[in-house]
Amino acid sequence: MGLNPNFLWGGATAANQSEGGYNLGNRGLSNVDLLPMGKIREEVMAGKVKMLDFDPNYYYPAKQAIDMYQHYLDDIKLFAEMGFKTYRMSISWTRIFPNGDEETPNEEGLKFYENIFLQLRKYNIEPLVTLAHFDVPVELIKKYGSWRNRKMVALFENYCQTVFTRYKGLVKYWLTFNEINMILHAPFLGAGLVFEDEDHEQQVKYQAVHHQLIASALATKIAHEVDPENKVGCMLAGGNYYPYSCRPEDYAKAIEKDRESFLFIDVQARGAYPNYALKKFQRENIHIIMERGDLELLKSHTVDFISFSYYSSRVVTTDDSVTHETAGNIFKSVKNPYLKSSEWGWQIDPLGLRSALNVMYDRYQKPLFIVENGLGAIDRPDENGNIEDDYRIDYLRQHIKAFKAAVEEDGVELMGYTTWGCIDLVSATKGEMSKRYGFIYVDCDNEGKGTRKRSKKKSFYWYQKVIQSNGEDLD
Ligand code: BG6
Repeated sequence: MGLNPNFLWGGATAANQSEGGYNLGNRGLSNVDLLPMGKIREEVMAGKVKMLDFDPNYYYPAKQAIDMYQHYLDDIKLFAEMGFKTYRMSISWTRIFPNGDEETPNEEGLKFYENIFLQLRKYNIEPLVTLAHFDVPVELIKKYGSWRNRKMVALFENYCQTVFTRYKGLVKYWLTFNEINMILHAPFLGAGLVFEDEDHEQQVKYQAVHHQLIASALATKIAHEVDPENKVGCMLAGGNYYPYSCRPEDYAKAIEKDRESFLFIDVQARGAYPNYALKKFQRENIHIIMERGDLELLKSHTVDFISFSYYSSRVVTTDDSVTHETAGNIFKSVKNPYLKSSEWGWQIDPLGLRSALNVMYDRYQKPLFIVENGLGAIDRPDENGNIEDDYRIDYLRQHIKAFKAAVEEDGVELMGYTTWGCIDLVSATKGEMSKRYGFIYVDCDNEGKGTRKRSKKKSFYWYQKVIQSNGEDLD
């Protein structure tokens, strides 16, 4: 019993939510730099409002974020002090290829990540690197319309080839597209898509999905060719749907809703579009243009493991009279009357994590990796400046218990667990700093003001103990 001694405990961040330095080191602009604070953010993320340059009327939190660009050495030291075995981070594509389509990569960007990986190696922390955590070079959006265009595949391939080659021996675990299913719910955020009036939106989205799936298979292929030691995973915004009632219609609807997300992993892990997807495309008049060899490519280069984020389960019903929705989540869901919510209305369901692990393991029979989980909460320093974040500890404790049960009692194969925002960072959906997930507090507010000084919260010491005991001591 107990978790495997090599279990990869750690934490996760993403470049655009932590690095800042948006114009340093020859970096180019990304879609994720252009997500403003405020109400309009949601419409920009959805591709409904086109914002391909900064508008002086808005504040853009990714520009500076928590300035990890200049603090990474000390931040990694703190991760090491917590005992991290792994650190999940992402490479910003535009640090390596500022416009996305240059002939030669930007050495300054390559060096920046190399230094991070070397620092991680120094502390025996295994990097887990996301190739695209929502970011797309703005120039490629302007030139090609982003992932709606097949040209993106070759450009992404080139980027992957470059980083796999350069970081051979330094990085072994890779993820292709963060929350690949996000493209359906927030298409500009997930894939740089902006819609024109004449667009058949579903057609554009699923064509872009196909391009990302091909790009992901190619990335897997190249990663294995460059170094057979490389392990590549896909990444899903996870959490299953519950039927709101036991009416058969609600159950059938829950299956249908889950398939919207499983479609991606079915292709990435099993190597083919499932029949239900092909039927859906037919029914909804979606015609995916493929090139010769695409289907073979998908078949031959499936992922080595499946990673996912888990914050909550979801609920669905066909009954129109049930109208109460959860607040503020990109994945709109009917409110579950049996669950409590975070301050942002995200419902808290540790058992749902155990269920999600079981459903996915049954379906794919591949190793799983929880690469995001955590509680976004407002932290209020006490009179001595300390943060006693028992609410966060409690949330994490319940979720760790749940995944341990999945491993120890159900036999699920789980490689590791990286909590989201191990150091406070900018919220993806809200752009706020006040939605904090970290073990490490960062002095920075919603307007970007503050010293960006780091300090340890109570959860820092708690997680240190959890890791030290390999998940046995959760008190
Ligand atoms: C996931 C993303 O959707 O959830 C992260 O991969 C994001 O980038 C996280 O930050 C939590 O969402 P939010 O909106 O609370 O930051």
